[in-house]
Amino acid sequence: MKTIIEPFRIKSVEPLRMTSVSEREALLKKANYNLFSLKSDDVLIDLLTDSGTSAMSTRQWAGIQMGDESYAGSPSFYRFEQALKELAPFKHIIPTHQGRAAEKILFSILADNKQDFIIPNNTHFDTTRANIEATGSQALDLVAKQGLDPQLDLPFKGDMDLMRLRDLLETKGEQVPIVMLTITNNSGGGQPVSMANIRQTKALCDEFNKPLFLDACRFAENAYFIKQREAGYQDKTPKEIVQEIFSYADGMTMSAKKDALVNMGGWLALNDDDLAMKARNVLILTEGFPTYGGLSGRDLEAMAVGLEEIVEEDYLNYRIGSTAYFGNALDRMGIPIVKPVGGHAVYIDARAMLPHIPPSQYPGQALAIEMYRLGGIRGCEIGTVMFGQQPDGSEKLAAMDLVRMAIPRRVYTQSHIDYCIECLAEVNANKNKLRGVDISWQPPMLRHFTCHFTPK
Ligand code: F0G
Repeated sequence: MKTIIEPFRIKSVEPLRMTSVSEREALLKKANYNLFSLKSDDVLIDLLTDSGTSAMSTRQWAGIQMGDESYAGSPSFYRFEQALKELAPFKHIIPTHQGRAAEKILFSILADNKQDFIIPNNTHFDTTRANIEATGSQALDLVAKQGLDPQLDLPFKGDMDLMRLRDLLETKGEQVPIVMLTITNNSGGGQPVSMANIRQTKALCDEFNKPLFLDACRFAENAYFIKQREAGYQDKTPKEIVQEIFSYADGMTMSAKKDALVNMGGWLALNDDDLAMKARNVLILTEGFPTYGGLSGRDLEAMAVGLEEIVEEDYLNYRIGSTAYFGNALDRMGIPIVKPVGGHAVYIDARAMLPHIPPSQYPGQALAIEMYRLGGIRGCEIGTVMFGQQPDGSEKLAAMDLVRMAIPRRVYTQSHIDYCIECLAEVNANKNKLRGVDISWQPPMLRHFTCHFTPK
């Protein structure tokens, strides 16, 4: 049977506010056509991010009631620690308020006033890159070539380019404190990394005596792709695959807002005693005491339960199936998307879809605006608006102009997804009428959050 059955039923509902096209046209004008400036009450289907937008389960809400708010040594911390060690048995587990806090702590203790470090990754996420660069070090992307071609349909487009990694370690090894791998590769379209590539990256790290750290925000989605696509894993459970993935790592940074199914949370985990001591010292200054980090006891309880639920096969089957269902429907209509469909999001190649809008007129933004105008759907431009602004005020076209539609976990049903598909069919049918936009005002940096647009 083809219908995707959500492996849950709904006990508590959150009403969506319906708006008309003309209301949304007025709301867009008021927001200066920047979708970040909309009130979320005015959005029907919010696909801005999959981060912190998950629906919690009855067991997680029950966990919230069990939260123990002791300053030191809370049982909630030990329950969280045990749940994580079941999947990732790192010696030191350090809770933080979200992923970027873990990154900030890790890179600040690694850098230790040295300015010439290089940290390689398949592709650094923005906050990871920014936290590395803030220490004066270099964040280097070494994703395998296939990961850079949006149209290539290959199973593991998140893999690390092992030749280039070897070359880096041979020529500049003394500048590399750790090697990172992001699973799944968000900035590369939510593409997974194969177990073979994780294993070979670890072998290379061992050869050069470097620790391997995973940016593991979407580890369960990555494990499910391995089960579906990599020989030898079909009969393993997602949990067993996750355990094998982490057995190759010396540490991890985590945003629990993704694959720990909570609305806020994260951690840094690692085996090295000396680094852990330094990390805890920074943690106490910036986040909190080591048994709560930046979190309440109740948050730790919800994460502990989330870590059990995220590796359930029925959940992952629905999750990966539903994202693929969305993306494949767009593909069949001839809408160009990043292929194959990733785990947490569908990415439309707006530059290819709207060739009559030059990249300097932001086809990604034009498409995102139209999706909201017509259907109340909020996606996110990932292209020249987001990356084009240079420190000297000039503009450089981004490599691609994409629109990301990220799917919150356990929030929308298949009929919500069907509605999105219908809306995009209509956008696609009238795409030649779409016009580009100008940026009429922008701040000096990170312009995509607040800049103003005017339609052409
Ligand atoms: N690493 C990756 C791969 C991420 O996707 C994110 C967040 C982070 C680190 C940072 O985690 O938000 O908890 O501080 N990604 C979100 C997104 C924001 O929309 O893709 P955080």
